[in-house]
Amino acid sequence: MSKQKDSDDLVRVGRGTVMGDMMRQYWIPAAMSSELERDGAPMRLVLLGERLIAFRDSSGRVGVMDHRCPHRCASLFLGRNEENGIRCVYHGWKYDAAGNCVDMPNAPPHQDFKDKVKAKAYKVAERNGLIWVYMGSRKEVPPLPAIEASLLPEAELQISFVQRECNWLQALEGDIDTSHFGFLHTGSVQPDDAAPDSLLRWTLTNRAPEYHVTDTGYGTMYCAYRPAEAGQTYWRFANFLFPFWTQTPQGPFDRVNTRAWVPMDDTHTMFVSLSWRSSPPSLRPLKNGQMIPGSRLGFDYLPNTTDWYGRWRLMQNPSNDWMIDRAAQKSGENYTGIASIHGQDQAVTERMGGITDHGFENLGPSDIMIARTRRRLLRAARAFAKDETIPPCVDDPGVYTAVRSGDFLADAKIAWRDAYEMQMRAAVRPLAQAAE
Ligand code: FES
Ligand SMILES: [Fe+2]
Repeated sequence: MSKQKDSDDLVRVGRGTVMGDMMRQYWIPAAMSSELERDGAPMRLVLLGERLIAFRDSSGRVGVMDHRCPHRCASLFLGRNEENGIRCVYHGWKYDAAGNCVDMPNAPPHQDFKDKVKAKAYKVAERNGLIWVYMGSRKEVPPLPAIEASLLPEAELQISFVQRECNWLQALEGDIDTSHFGFLHTGSVQPDDAAPDSLLRWTLTNRAPEYHVTDTGYGTMYCAYRPAEAGQTYWRFANFLFPFWTQTPQGPFDRVNTRAWVPMDDTHTMFVSLSWRSSPPSLRPLKNGQMIPGSRLGFDYLPNTTDWYGRWRLMQNPSNDWMIDRAAQKSGENYTGIASIHGQDQAVTERMGGITDHGFENLGPSDIMIARTRRRLLRAARAFAKDETIPPCVDDPGVYTAVRSGDFLADAKIAWRDAYEMQMRAAVRPLAQAAE
């Protein structure tokens, strides 16, 4: 298989593509419940290259369907959301949240054929403040993924969406590439700047770690490791979970945080972060009591618009070079000159181009997890394309639950998988606590 064919099969997500068809087997986190009001204006939504509308009907049900009216393709975005359905403003045909045509007022009663018309609607589920969409063809939909953070009660779950202007895979790969943390995010911080008991010291002391990587039931796992003091090893564990989820290694295992890189189309991605509000912070102050320069967390959004690409865009974006401050970059005050961790990640992955050219790359030792994850994704997607082999986790969504990531020190004699299990056993479990 050529490298270009591999690349196309990995990055393309439209209907009929290898990856797009595999992704349609999974539930997709598509919007926050708070984005849709009862009988409110329909919202434009782009998922896997399809232009959809989403609306909440008078009873509170959410409908997600092709934006084109099945009569003559007028956009249902223009429609009237009224009395438990969306009514096309062109000739008045009306559809319920499941896509059934429930009214055909421009046809005489004896010629009415509304029972035969259906909008192209997708199954929708809503849980703990998040709206999920299933775009596959199964009549009996699979269960929702039991990703730990997504199971937290709404009041304890922090949900953030951020749009990124590039292909989903290059965006996701930033989360499984931990050596960039010592450059992009902390390149101008010196080991002595870290608080004495801070693990950051080890990232700053040795910016070229070594790695272990393995396939798992849910995807792939890796860890970066470096020697630390007194016979200890500094470990950073992170995960890829099918088909587009990640967990990042910065912070303790007590964090409950999983992130999705949902393909809107081939060149736009929606980042969806699900985290427990009581998670301990992933970054701590430096020795001087200040945070790492340029490490501001949180997001400065542009106002949302109703455009196809109008939701959850950041003020730092390609049109203003992510507000790069060259003076701060030159002085070393901020390695990139770009404020905010997320802004730095946006800048590097967006500026690779809409779809990164895999033929131009030279993967190095730090990319072992990326290479492994690409292979695992390709194998699963091609197996589904060949004989509909069910991709990982689709029918076994509980595999997702007991998975965490983070960094820690452990005795250097402990094997890497054992070190992970020890952290897992000790980690705080809000769901288990709630059940007690
Ligand atoms: S195009 Fe929608 S009712 Fe005619
Ligand atoms: Fe990053």
